[in-house]
Amino acid sequence: MKKKCKIAVLAGDGIGLEIMESALKVLDVISKKYGIEFEFRKALVGGAAIDETGDPLPEETLKLCKESDAVLFGAVGGEKWDNLPTDKRPEKGLLKIRKELDLFANIRPAKAYNALLDSSPLKNNIIKGVDLIVLRELTGGIYFGEPRGIEERNGEKVGFNTMIYYEHEIKRIAKLAFELARGRRKKVTSVDKANVLEVSALWREVVTQVHNDYTDVDLEHMYVDNCAMQLIRRPKDFDVIVTGNMFGDIISDEAGALTGSLGMLPSASIGERYAFYEPIHGSAPDIAGKGIANPIAMILSAAMMLDITCKLPQASKDIEKAVDKVLEEGYRTTDIWSPGTKKVSTDEMTDLIIKYIQES
Ligand code: IPM
Ligand code: MG
Repeated sequence: MKKKCKIAVLAGDGIGLEIMESALKVLDVISKKYGIEFEFRKALVGGAAIDETGDPLPEETLKLCKESDAVLFGAVGGEKWDNLPTDKRPEKGLLKIRKELDLFANIRPAKAYNALLDSSPLKNNIIKGVDLIVLRELTGGIYFGEPRGIEERNGEKVGFNTMIYYEHEIKRIAKLAFELARGRRKKVTSVDKANVLEVSALWREVVTQVHNDYTDVDLEHMYVDNCAMQLIRRPKDFDVIVTGNMFGDIISDEAGALTGSLGMLPSASIGERYAFYEPIHGSAPDIAGKGIANPIAMILSAAMMLDITCKLPQASKDIEKAVDKVLEEGYRTTDIWSPGTKKVSTDEMTDLIIKYIQES
């Protein structure tokens, strides 16, 4: 365990503010229980930062992130900033942090909670027992490839991006996929479009090479369109899915939706030096400020931070167990509520989770 963790707290916009308060409350309790010290330092990001400084990721915020052991991030965006050009939008702040901190690996777990099986769009018998991770490459591929742009050619406009992967980028994410699988069910599915794209043919070749060092783990290759289908037909068969930036963006939303609520899903983005933890869901401006947002994804993101950055897996498990327990006891925020369960606010949900952490 680390004795002290310096955390940059970037709540962002919309419900980001409320759910961040929940996560910080939970971390305070963990701090007392385990004697770990957190130093929280807050900074602006996204729309809030645009309003204040004109920049979705002010220099000061980036500097703070680089001086911290981890970044806790809420959510960014909202209608108010929707009409800004791509490079001025709140999302740009997020993309820039990923690149600047070299957060090349995005870990997105999707787990079906027994208490929430009815929230899934899939039949109970298909979703029950699903426990997978989408490992998305986060700093390369078509999101960042050059050349990119919109220009005029032959008297008309043309838009273009470049999907590009260097061998070293594929190698490091593949290694992490196999490492993660070793601690789980020892299966990696590498997702690409190697029947059409050269960049995918190289992806497949390099992942296969890296696999030579991990022969105790099973490796399968799957085209992305097929993966989109198999995730719906037999999600239980997946353990670790490793893929590039854009395929991972799409597949991870699909995997998230399987389990029924985006409000439950945390994520971690890690690189050699920095780590960044955020819920998968967005800033949900429609419910912001009402005190009804589901804080669980944010709280579970803090749990991933405790495990990966603070080296305190026991505290992380405490939180996961407390979340299981509130759900089993029938407490639900609006997004996961169904008749017969007890509707609670953001604060009530947070306090219940804290109560169960203290009792464990
Ligand atoms: C995500 C989001 C981002 C992405 C957006 C907000 C830039 O969809 O984290 O999955 O495309 O990576
Ligand atoms: Mg996405």
